[in-house]
Amino acid sequence: MGNQGPKQHGYRNMALKRTGDGKKTNQKAYIKTFGCQMNEYDSERIAYHLTKAGYTLTGRLEGSDLIVLNTCAVREKAKNRLYGHIGNLKKHKKENPHLIIAVGGCTAQNLRADIQKDFPFVDIVFGTFNVSQIAQLVAQKQKGRSNICGVKEQGFDYQLGQSVRPQPFKAFVPVITGCNNFCSYCIVPFVRGREKSLPPEAIAAHIKDLAHQGVKEVTLLGQNVNSYGKDLDQAIDFSSLLEKMDPLGIPWIRFMTSHPKDFSPKLVKVVAGCDQAVNHIHLPLQSGSNAVLEKMNRKYTQEHYLGMVQDMKANMKNCSITTDIMVGFPGEEEKDFKQTMHVVKKARFKRAFTFIYSPRERTAAAKIKDVVPLASKKKWFGELVAVQNRISYEENKKMEGKTFQALVEGYSPKDKGLLQARLYDHTVVLCRAPKQLIGKMVYLEIKQAKAFYLIGNYQGKC
Ligand code: 5AD
Ligand code: SF4
Repeated sequence: MGNQGPKQHGYRNMALKRTGDGKKTNQKAYIKTFGCQMNEYDSERIAYHLTKAGYTLTGRLEGSDLIVLNTCAVREKAKNRLYGHIGNLKKHKKENPHLIIAVGGCTAQNLRADIQKDFPFVDIVFGTFNVSQIAQLVAQKQKGRSNICGVKEQGFDYQLGQSVRPQPFKAFVPVITGCNNFCSYCIVPFVRGREKSLPPEAIAAHIKDLAHQGVKEVTLLGQNVNSYGKDLDQAIDFSSLLEKMDPLGIPWIRFMTSHPKDFSPKLVKVVAGCDQAVNHIHLPLQSGSNAVLEKMNRKYTQEHYLGMVQDMKANMKNCSITTDIMVGFPGEEEKDFKQTMHVVKKARFKRAFTFIYSPRERTAAAKIKDVVPLASKKKWFGELVAVQNRISYEENKKMEGKTFQALVEGYSPKDKGLLQARLYDHTVVLCRAPKQLIGKMVYLEIKQAKAFYLIGNYQGKC
């Protein structure tokens, strides 16, 4: 899934009113999220359970009574950064011995024993399958238990709707959890278990409720949404789920992530034909080399991938494709990297999340001797980023002078005098407009393109 590094949930002491059940306390909880959208959704669930138990959510680490780090394990760097963060919390614990520190999520699922050994001041370690138990684990700590570990594999144990959204007008809706693919570099199947689809009736009821609440954008989530339904008794696939969700009253429906091996021409037709499903597809390429793709266990070829890109561009209006790309997979050579660059230039992605391969414990690729020199990895990475940045800029430039619908999300983090909105494909547009428009769909004329965002003129409400 598109993975944008550490994020802190934008909660501002607002959640108690929304979900508290009368047990108001003065206790404040601070939640920090690392990693992908599934982790962000898990943090929304953590927020739900903590506010239900009487906590107020805070955006400030200082003065909080409970700190929850929701961790990512996808790359080695994420783990290293997490270890730095946990280490920094020691001084807070010294200043406030009543402070409770909980570490959850993918790294906690993966390395629970190491975390408990290396950081004895961490009070609670809980895994991806134990998010719903966070309030009970905290209560155990408050009763004096120490070294609490809630990590076991038990499939998902939650109901849609048990979450607190930092932005009330946008919602994540997981439709399938876990992954059966075992791409050879990827740790996800080890920390999130096997695929499990949520029943379509529950998803539809939840989406109707979100529409009733005035939610403007829903993202259907899954490690591989295209596997949706394979484990259900009824005959349903992701395309037919999407068709069922389209008329339920949400202005924008998006989904991620799609796996190229399962992405079908049928889905392209359905997205093109749906009114609310946006014409943006996140389709991780990983590599353009057939030899590397085979070693990655991706089960598609460059030719298949480019065929799908062509199909999308031919059939979806203003089709926008984003991707994830990795360089430096064990055994990758210059000729393989050239194939990746060939696809990048042909597909002309709107944006790409780019990574240098890092070995992850327990995965098949971690057993292959990594002989790619670091200098090559860095050189390829630099070339890839430079070419993709140029393409992103050129693609943004094509939007100048055109008017698009956009969802206004809040103030620009860099200039509070401007509002930040997003287009159907998540491109950021900065504009000057009244703050009452936050959470509303508007029309923006694109005035100027930058490599990573656009500048727009407010034209009116949709
Ligand atoms: N090393 C580097 N990047 C990785 N990703 C997944 N596993 C690894 C790894 N071991 C990248 C993939 C994936 C994205 C979420 O993270 O590109 O699509
Ligand atoms: Fe990881 Fe591959 Fe599953 Fe994506 S499809 S989560 S890359 S194993």
